[in-house]
Amino acid sequence: MITAPDIHAISTFVTEQKQAGRTIAFVPTMGALHAGHLDLIRVARTEADIVIVSVFVNPTQFGPNEDFSAYPRTLDDDLRQCEQAGAAAVFCPEKEELYSATSYIGFELSGLGDHLCGAARPGHFNGVIQIVNKLFNIVKPDVAVFGQKDIQQFRILEVMAHEFNHDIRIIMGRTVRAADGLALSSRNRYLTREERIIAPALFSTLQETSHALQQLPAATNVAAQIQNLLEGAAARLNSAGFRTDYVQCVRYNDLQPPHTFEAREIYVLAGAAFLGKARLIDNLLFTLLQP
Ligand code: PAF
Repeated sequence: MITAPDIHAISTFVTEQKQAGRTIAFVPTMGALHAGHLDLIRVARTEADIVIVSVFVNPTQFGPNEDFSAYPRTLDDDLRQCEQAGAAAVFCPEKEELYSATSYIGFELSGLGDHLCGAARPGHFNGVIQIVNKLFNIVKPDVAVFGQKDIQQFRILEVMAHEFNHDIRIIMGRTVRAADGLALSSRNRYLTREERIIAPALFSTLQETSHALQQLPAATNVAAQIQNLLEGAAARLNSAGFRTDYVQCVRYNDLQPPHTFEAREIYVLAGAAFLGKARLIDNLLFTLLQP
C-alpha cells in the first residue's frame, strides 16, 4: 500500500493504475477508522480492481462551535487498518494541500439541506460537497462508497455526482453496529462509560418509531400522526438522558417531510441527539408495510 501525502503523489498513482487498465473504488473518510469504515473498504474491493482511501479531517464541514480540533486523529493506526483491509493507497493530505486561504464559491442545496443535519448544522453540507468534489477530481474513481449512517450526506452526494456529471457510481455501505445496536462512529469515543450504556437507545427508539410509522395508512393525510410519533421519540430520548437535536421523517428522494405516505416511496427516519460531548446520529430506511 502506498501513502500519498500530496496531490502529486496520489495523481501519479492514479495515472499509473488507469494506464494499467485498473478500475478504482474510493472510500473518503475523516480517519479515526473503525469497523464501519473497514466494511466500506470491503464493499469497495468488490466493486473495482483497487481501492483508494482518503483520510482528511475537513475543516470546512465543521461549524464554529463544533468539534474540529477535538476530532480524533489517529493516522498511524488508520494506515495500518487500511493496509490490513486491502487498500492500495491512502491519500492523507494536510489542509494547505487542498485549500487556499480563501474560497469564493459556495453551493446552493435548495430543499435537500432544509431538514435533518442540514438544518441543525448550517454550512455543513456546503463543506462536504466542496471537499468531495475536490477529492473526486483528484482521485478520479469509477466508484465511491459512503455509509448509510450519514444518510443525508449520501443522498446529497448522489445528487451532486449526477448534477456535476461526475462519471462515478455512488454506492451505499450499510451501518455497522455494536452488538447492542449502537451505530459505530468515530465520535463514540467521546462517550463516558455511563453514556455508552444509554447510547443504544437512539437506535432502539428509531426502530420502535419506524415500526409505528410503517403501520400508518397510505394516501391519507397522516401529518399529525407522524408528528406525534416523532415528538414521542424525542421525549423518550430526552428522558433516557439524551439532548435530542431532531427526530424527523423525510422522503429519501427529496429529503422533505411527507404529509401522506405513498406506496413504493422510500422514507428515512433519522435522529440526532447529544449525549455529553458526543452528537450521535442514526437512521432507518423504510417503506409502508401495507401499501
Ligand atoms: O463522512 C465523512 O467522513 C465525511 O463527511 C467525508 C465524506 C469524508 C467528507 O469529509
